[in-house]
Amino acid sequence: MTWTLRPAETGDEDAVVALWRDCGLVIPANDPAGDFRRARGRIGSEIFVADADGAIVGSAMIGHDGHRGWVYYLATTPSWRGQGVARSLIAHAEAWMIERDIPKLHLLVRHTNTGVIGFYETQGFKVHPVAMLQKVLLPASAE
Ligand SMILES: CC(C)(COP(=O)(O)OP(=O)(O)OC[C@H]1O[C@@H](n2cnc3c(N)ncnc32)[C@H](O)[C@@H]1OP(=O)(O)O)[C@@H](O)C(=O)NCCC(=O)NCCS
Repeated sequence: MTWTLRPAETGDEDAVVALWRDCGLVIPANDPAGDFRRARGRIGSEIFVADADGAIVGSAMIGHDGHRGWVYYLATTPSWRGQGVARSLIAHAEAWMIERDIPKLHLLVRHTNTGVIGFYETQGFKVHPVAMLQKVLLPASAE
C-alpha cells in the first residue's frame, strides 16, 4: 500500500471533510468545511493529504503563528491504519516547520480521545501539563 503526500486542492474539500467525519474528528461545534477553507493554501497554514491512487486516505492540517507550530485534523482512514500514513504526515509537518524556522510542534487532544496519545508518544511528543483557555469569537468555530 503506497501513498504520496501533497497539499490539498480546493476540489478535495468534500473528500477531506468526509475523512474527518469518518475518523470521528468533527463535533457539532465544528465547521469542518470552513476550517478546510480557512487553512488550505494560506501563508501560515496548509492541509496535506495522503493520496493513494486518487483516494484521500489521510490528512493533517498544519500551521504556525510565528512561535509555535500546530497540527490539527490528523486522520488516517480506518482501512489504511497501521501502515505508517500518520507517521509520514507528522514527519512532513515537522519538516514544514523546520523549513520555516519554527522550533516547536504542538497539538491538542480532546479528553474523549486520549487513546490517541500513545500514537503521538511513538512520534516523540510528550504530554505537557498546561491549561488551554478559549474564547469563542465566531459561531461554529468553538474548537
Ligand atoms: C491516530 C491515527 C491518525 C494513527 O494513524 P495511522 O496511520 O494508523 O498511524 P501509523 O500507522 O502511522 O502509526 C505509527 C505508529 O504509531 C502506532 N500507533 C498508531 N495508533 C496508535 C495508538 N492509538 N496508540 C499507540 N500507538 C499507536 C503504530 O503502531 C505505529 O507504530 P510503529 O511505528 O512502531 O509501527 C489514526 O488512528 C486515526 O485517524 N485516528 C482517528 C483520528 C484521531 O483521533 N486523530 C488524532 C486527533 S488528536
